Amino acid sequence: MSKVEVAGLEARHYDLMMNLITLGTYPFFIRRVVRDMNIRPDDAILDLGAGTGRNAALMARFLTGPGRIVGLDVGQEMLTQAEARFRDRPNVTFDKRRIDEPLPYRDEFDKVFISFVLHGFVQEDRLRIIANTHQALKAGGEFLILDYAHFEPEAAIWPVRWAFQHAECPLASDFARRDWPAILGEQGFSDFRSRHYYRGFVRLLVARKETGPSAP
Ligand SMILES: C[S@@+](CC[C@H](N)C(=O)[O-])C[C@H]1O[C@@H](n2cnc3c(N)ncnc32)[C@H](O)[C@@H]1O
Repeated sequence: MSKVEVAGLEARHYDLMMNLITLGTYPFFIRRVVRDMNIRPDDAILDLGAGTGRNAALMARFLTGPGRIVGLDVGQEMLTQAEARFRDRPNVTFDKRRIDEPLPYRDEFDKVFISFVLHGFVQEDRLRIIANTHQALKAGGEFLILDYAHFEPEAAIWPVRWAFQHAECPLASDFARRDWPAILGEQGFSDFRSRHYYRGFVRLLVARKETGPSAP
C-alpha cells in the first residue's frame, strides 16, 4: 500500500487543495517545471501516478503530430477527472494500473515522468517502479522525477520541519535523505541534471537511460 493513494473528498478537490497548500503558487510552479522538462513535439511520455491530468494538460501543449501521453493511476476519482480533461484528445490516454506492479511497456517512451508519487512508497517498491521505468524507456530516454530534493528534514527551516513531522508520511523523510542519483546510477541511469524549486526543497531530477548493455 503506497502512502500517496488519494481518494474521496481529497481526490475530488485535489488540484484546488494543492493551490491552497502552496498559497496559490502551484500553477506557476508546475508550469515552470513543465517548461524545464524540454518536451519535444513528438515525445512519447509516460506519466506515472498521473492524478487529475493537470500535469498532462500542461505537457500536451508542447506536443504536436505523433507526440502522445499515457497516464497511469490507481485512483478512480483521479482518473475520472483526467479522462474528462482529454475526451477529444486521442493522443492523451489514461489507464487504471498500479505502477509498482509489472507494466506492459518495453523501449517505447522518450520520457517517463513521476510527480510527487515516488516518495510515498517503501524503498523496495520504489526500486520496482524504477525498474518498470527503465523497461518502458527507449535507450537514451529520460526519467524525470519531480519530488522532494535531497535534505535532512529535521534540520530544515521550521515550516518544512513541521510539515514533515506532522503532515507528511514518514516515507517522505526517508525519500529526502536518500542519494537518488547514486541509486539511479545503480539501476542503469546516468547523465543527471536537476532543477530546484521552493527554496531548494523540491527538485526535478532528470536521468538518462543508458544505451549500453550495463542496464539491469
Ligand atoms: C500526490 S498525487 C500526485 C498526482 C500527480 N502526479 C500530480 O503531481 O498532480 C499521487 C497520485 O499517485 C496515485 N498513486 C498512488 N499509488 C499508486 C500506485 N501504486 N499506482 C498508480 N498510481 C498510484 C494516486 O492515486 C494519486 O493520483
